[in-house]
Amino acid sequence: MEYNEGKRTGKQKLNAFFTPEQICEQMWELAKVHGYDGGSVLEPSVGTGNMIVHAPDKSKVVGLETEIEYFETVTKRFPTSTFHNMFFEQLFLQPPRYRSDYAGNTTWLAGYPFSLIIGNPPYGKFTGRWASYFPRKGEPKMSSYEFFFIWYGLKLLKKEGLLVYIVPQNYLNSGFNAYKKEKEAILKVANIIDGYEMGSLFKDTKVPTHIIVLKKK
Ligand SMILES: C[S@@+](CC[C@H](N)C(=O)[O-])C[C@H]1O[C@@H](n2cnc3c(N)ncnc32)[C@H](O)[C@@H]1O
Repeated sequence: MEYNEGKRTGKQKLNAFFTPEQICEQMWELAKVHGYDGGSVLEPSVGTGNMIVHAPDKSKVVGLETEIEYFETVTKRFPTSTFHNMFFEQLFLQPPRYRSDYAGNTTWLAGYPFSLIIGNPPYGKFTGRWASYFPRKGEPKMSSYEFFFIWYGLKLLKKEGLLVYIVPQNYLNSGFNAYKKEKEAILKVANIIDGYEMGSLFKDTKVPTHIIVLKKK
């Protein structure tokens, strides 16, 4: 099924490559093979919802999307799932103004702690409206959106929960010393239990990608 990817241009458009449904199906297959237990699921940057098509129980899926037209599309497309028109970053800030760290435990989002975080997050330098609130004391520098979505995605998982993402190939194929701090930080809280080279999946971009599967310790 084709969905309108909007009329974005330049930098904005970089954030809006939707994952082919066949790849989404493979990602769900990985979640099941690695023990997804049927609990709550978060798609942190859901777009028009391709990743939800293969969810075994769509009522357990929570999705976030910043762009109003994608949010409206996904809400109509999956009426039993729960969607929020907001940034992933806001999950860790205090509602309703989101101008300070969340005062409770990790997040205010219903469904936390999640059994599975699945998605294809935005890539690139971590900037924008909420960037000044991160990293928090004792945390690694948030060098990119993909790292922010990995690090904070892991925080939202329950013990032994799974994170299945499509990410640029940086983490797995550039040697010991590249992205060292990020990799060390990730490996303190999770194990990398599976990974696949996927090449460039998206029309209009040549970014080579991996599917990675992390299991929270
Ligand atoms: C690469 S697309 C992937 C969409 C969907 N996950 C998929 O696989 O088809 C990334 C999506 O994230 C949204 N997005 C960008 N920045 C975001 C943020 N900080 N929080 C939540 N969503 C974001 C974009 O509008 C876009 O729809």
